[in-house]
Parts: sequence; C-alpha cells; structure tokens
Amino acid sequence: MNEFIALEQNYGAHNYHPLPVVLARGKGVYVWDTEGKKYIDLLSAYSAVSHGHAHPRLLKALREQAEKIAVTSRAFYSDQLGLFLKALCELAGLEMAIPMNSGSEAVETAIKAARRWGYKAKGIPVNQAEIIVAEGNFHGRTTTIVGFSSEEAYKTNFGPFTPGFKQIPFGSVSVLEKAITPHTAAFIVEPIQGEAGIIVPPKGWLAEVEKVCRRHRVLLILDEVQSGLGRSGKMFAFQHEGVRPDGLILGKALGGGLLPVSAFVSSKEVMELFEPGSHGSTFGGNPLAAAVGLEALRVLKEEKLVEKSHELGQYLLKRLQEMKSPYISEVRGSGLWVGVVIDPDKASARTICEKLMERGVLAKETHQVVIRIAPPLVITRDEIDWVLEQFQAVLSTI
Ligand SMILES: Cc1ncc(COP(=O)(O)O)c(C=O)c1O
Repeated sequence: MNEFIALEQNYGAHNYHPLPVVLARGKGVYVWDTEGKKYIDLLSAYSAVSHGHAHPRLLKALREQAEKIAVTSRAFYSDQLGLFLKALCELAGLEMAIPMNSGSEAVETAIKAARRWGYKAKGIPVNQAEIIVAEGNFHGRTTTIVGFSSEEAYKTNFGPFTPGFKQIPFGSVSVLEKAITPHTAAFIVEPIQGEAGIIVPPKGWLAEVEKVCRRHRVLLILDEVQSGLGRSGKMFAFQHEGVRPDGLILGKALGGGLLPVSAFVSSKEVMELFEPGSHGSTFGGNPLAAAVGLEALRVLKEEKLVEKSHELGQYLLKRLQEMKSPYISEVRGSGLWVGVVIDPDKASARTICEKLMERGVLAKETHQVVIRIAPPLVITRDEIDWVLEQFQAVLSTI
C-alpha cells in the first residue's frame, strides 16, 4: 500500500491531502483497498458516485457504447447526444443544454451565457456585465472561478483575476437586491453550499431570490453540480422551494460515477445566443458520455434514488442530531448530504475521519471542522445504522 502512496507523493503535485488508504475496487456503497480491506464510502467522490460504484446498468451502457463509438467531437452529430440532452432538458424543465465535462467547465459556460445574454438581450454596455455570487461559494478551480471565491487558499498567488464579479453574503435577499445594478446579468449561486460545509440557507430564501431576480431582469443561475440529481432529497435542490431557475449547472453524478459529464441547461432565449465557434469542448457531449449520462438519469428515476435520498436522509440527520456528544457542535443537511460540525477546541475532524477509516468508514473533512456524510444514494437503512454505530464508537474513544 505504501508504495502507491509514495508514487503519488513523488510524482503527483501535493494539491490534495488524502486519507492514507489506497483504493483498488468498488461496488455499490463499498470500496476495497489494495490489501482487500472493505470500507463503506461516505464521500461518493464528492457526490459523483451517487449511483454507487460500478452500477451494472451504467457499466452495460458504458461497454455497449464504447464498442460502437466513443468520441466523435462535435464536428459531427451522434445518435446519442440529442437523446441525452432531451432527457436532461425535460428533467430540468428547461429548453436547451450545452454538454461539457467537468463542473468547472459547465460553470464557465454559464458565465459566458450570462454575459452574452447581458449584452445581447438585456442591453448592458459591452464588457461591463456584472455577475453576483455568494460568499463561501465553490464553483470550481479555473482562474476566473477562484477569482470570485472568498477562500484565500483557493486564490493565493493565482491572480490577476477576471473582473466583473461581486460577492454578497449567502442567504441574504436584501443585500442581493442592493447589489444589483443595471449592469447585472446574473446571480450564480449554489442552492445549498456543499464545499463550504453543507450550508443550508434559511427556508424561503431561494423563492425570494427568484422574485428579486425577476424584478430586476437578472438571470438566476443555480450551480447544482453537487446538490443536483437527488443529493439534497429532491431531484434538484431548487424544487424544495418551487423555484424555476433561468440556468442550471450540472455535473458530478451526471456521469454515473464512471465519466466526467457536465452541462449547462437553460432557456432558448439564453442558449440561442451561442453561434458556431462561440464555445465548445473536444470531449463535451461525446457519445460515450451521452449514453452513460442518459442511463444515469434513467437509473435515478427507476431506482427511486431521489426518494431514497429524502427518506434515508431524514433518518440519518435525525439520528446524528440525537447523538449527544461534546465534540459535535452542529448537525445540518438535506437528503443524504449531512455535515457534522466538530468543535475544533475539543477534537479534530481529520482525526475523527482517520479513526473512522480504521473502522472501515471513509469520510472526509471539509474546512477542517465539518465531516461530510454523502454516501451513494443506494445505501440502505441497515448500512446507515452500522455507520452510526461506528461514528458513536469513534466519538466515545477520543
Ligand atoms: C457546486 C460545485 N460547482 C462546481 C464544482 C466543480 O466541479 P469539477 O470539480 O468537476 O470541476 C464543484 C465541485 O466540487 C461543486 O461542488
């Protein structure tokens, strides 16, 4: 095992701080290390593996499509992409989509779309469009995106950054309204902030945000790369508030835990402002990704993974909230997406994750103090009970 860690350490830049476990295999909610030890996966690759590892239907779709044709580029049509985009648009209640690969690329696409719409539809003077974002946001790692992050670690020595972004506190409506000017094209926001530590905004906030955006003709673009596709207990987190976004950014679970697949989905009014040559991606929308993405959407619905996320998520949240421990200062979440906040004066979230690992539970801390619990949505109640036992056991030994 150590030899693999040494290889990564020697030949890979140290931009991550992994737990000392080397994974070699995965199936459903379980993963195995190189020595055959079994663990339950509570991270799901930051929600990319919501369907579980090596889902048989997704593997079948992958294999069958790979044998036919995998990559065509968008220089040609394929018999897969249109089907995938249709399913995606119908699911989101929107009209057109641009397929990309990573979440960051889909966010960049949304930024371009918002600016174009700002100039061509709203009449903002060229190069003066503003986009409002929230403090504590996480939208990816490109230089433009980290430029409007409030997290110093993401930006130090990566400047100069792209202008045209304004930050407001997450969860505030009045500050949003005050921040809007005639040059504001869009408000881009996560409905629940994932990387910030699963921050659930006040109830009613998103519905009010929608009203403010409509009032000022500002696009409401939701980044549901992490919250979307069942993670929050609804297919999309905006459905908790009956909101209809103008643009939706999806990724992670869209690739069924097998491939990077992302998309920006929006209205015709916004999307028809892209013409040939204005945007693109060599791999975005390739037939392999489209076939897997389409099957990933079908599996979510047919296996009722969203309903599972809602029901089991409520159970998990309640049980964790009842777990009285001096080390836990807060438990919050939505669906199978729970943040357990550890009091940093009393215990280290990293140490707890290491102890959980010894007991066969893989969870990862975020921002030093929050243990994120986001298992594959195929987890069962018995498995959750077992995880809770391990959690309780670790808390009683520190
Ligand atoms: C809300 C959100 N947006 C965008 C991204 C970036 O996605 P990717 O890492 O695939 O570029 C992430 C990744 O964690 C995310 O959580």
